[in-house]
Amino acid sequence: MGLFRKKETGERAAAVMPRHIAVIMDGNGRWARKRGLPRGVGHSAGAEAFRTLVRYCDSLGIEQLTVFAFSTENWKRPQDEVDDIMDLLRKYLRDCCTQLAKENFRLRFLGDLDRLPEDIRELIARNRVISETCTGIIVNVCVNYGGRLDVVRAAQKLAGQVAAGELSAGEIDEDVFSRALWTGGLPDPDLVIRTGAESRLSNFLLWQSAYSELYFTDTLFPDFTPRRLDEALRWYAGRNRRFGGVKA
Ligand code: FPP
Repeated sequence: MGLFRKKETGERAAAVMPRHIAVIMDGNGRWARKRGLPRGVGHSAGAEAFRTLVRYCDSLGIEQLTVFAFSTENWKRPQDEVDDIMDLLRKYLRDCCTQLAKENFRLRFLGDLDRLPEDIRELIARNRVISETCTGIIVNVCVNYGGRLDVVRAAQKLAGQVAAGELSAGEIDEDVFSRALWTGGLPDPDLVIRTGAESRLSNFLLWQSAYSELYFTDTLFPDFTPRRLDEALRWYAGRNRRFGGVKA
């Protein structure tokens, strides 16, 4: 486990500990290639790293963890690889059906879920029901998610409400718009982490990350251990978040 401990999430530490962390889990394929293994093995190792990360974030008292598991663009990957990732999601969801209540995590899936295989959608629905009785960390798994699609769909939803006379165009402000997104009701991420040595958001939480601190690391996701998260948290604790204001 890492160096941060839950007792450090008291009042003083709250100012330096993010409430909501979002992670772009990049580098699974390269992790596998370095070992001469198929890419699917890299995704399995990534899924293990994700499980460890959830438990560690929960132990630190972090309220929300949002991960990018599959983007709207990832369908372009070879069918074998798409199938491998869907199988991992399936396995994760099945395990969660038995473990979720014990672990007390609240699991949510965000994105255009209609395109997912029917059995996965059913497992998501089952886990949503189990999650209702849980009180621990909220884990948002973004699947078939794209930041631009999120914004477009929110605009369509609000336009529909305006056309139906339920809302006036003038009533649409940032708050109303935020609530129409798939992340509606969640606090924006304080910290967005991207592993895998790339420095871009790749269509992840574009609206929601307007004021997030962005942390890029060369570590490939399967190697992103609690110690690596501690490094990101130490970096975050040294940031001065001004939200467009002046330095305190
Ligand atoms: C990016 O690495 C990773 C993905 C597109 C898939 C992420 C999926 C998992 C971690 C497993 C399933 C998740 C859950 C929640 C059970 P990449 O393949 O682009 O790596 P590369 O850049 O090295 O090729």
